[in-house]
Amino acid sequence: MNEHAHPLSMSDRADRLEEEKMREMERIITKSTIAHLMDGEVKMDTSPEMKAKHPGKFFLMGEDPRLPPMPERPTLVDYFRRRFASTAHLLQSATHALKGGQPEKVILACLLHDIAIVSFIRCDHGYWGAQMIEPYVDEEVAWAVKTHQALRFFPDESVGYGYPDLYKELFGPDYKPEPYIVEEYKRARAHKWYMTSRLICMNDIYSFDPNARVNLDDFVDIIGRNFKQPKEGLGLDNSPSAHMWRTILWPTRFL
Ligand SMILES: [Fe+2]
Ligand SMILES: [Fe+2]
Repeated sequence: MNEHAHPLSMSDRADRLEEEKMREMERIITKSTIAHLMDGEVKMDTSPEMKAKHPGKFFLMGEDPRLPPMPERPTLVDYFRRRFASTAHLLQSATHALKGGQPEKVILACLLHDIAIVSFIRCDHGYWGAQMIEPYVDEEVAWAVKTHQALRFFPDESVGYGYPDLYKELFGPDYKPEPYIVEEYKRARAHKWYMTSRLICMNDIYSFDPNARVNLDDFVDIIGRNFKQPKEGLGLDNSPSAHMWRTILWPTRFL
């Protein structure tokens, strides 16, 4: 067909591509229960139902062909480039820390503080993110990533950090953090690494500039020095959080 005579809109083109891909697919792709819960439904893709819908096909037990292919031994940088849905906020936070002359530990913490959100899950993103990186970074970095989630809600005038205006906009003026967040804040406030987590919040709050020019290349060396990349590939090693990385690698694997 002559596309100049009948130009397809961007979304038509995307739909057509999606349909073609689905037809080409040789395997049945399922969604996890958490994906349905996020759609507001308590349900799951069951094997008899899915087999009936796709007769003669087997379930996907490997890479999802709709996603960008990952190398055999993926690195953190590969995840940044091919799995993280957005990296601008992380790069802006880390750039802020870099320009502020902060230690590499803090820069790395800023670079990784919201990786759970961009790759995995929003709810309790600090805890998920910390567990993802814990085997590969300094204990202080993982601790700071975990606790920034709570600290963000609590001002510290001594360092000029106020309650973020953005949160009033996002959650309404009356939002109060849940008791477990208040407790986490109290523990973090009294912790020897408090300021590392506070620095994440301080670099974070300024980091939503859509025009900022940032580049992952500026951080590849810092990652190399401070993130223990497993030689087998991130997710293919035997660390306590390897399964989390594998889930991001193969999110639609049946089991
Ligand atoms: Fe965060
Ligand atoms: Fe953030």
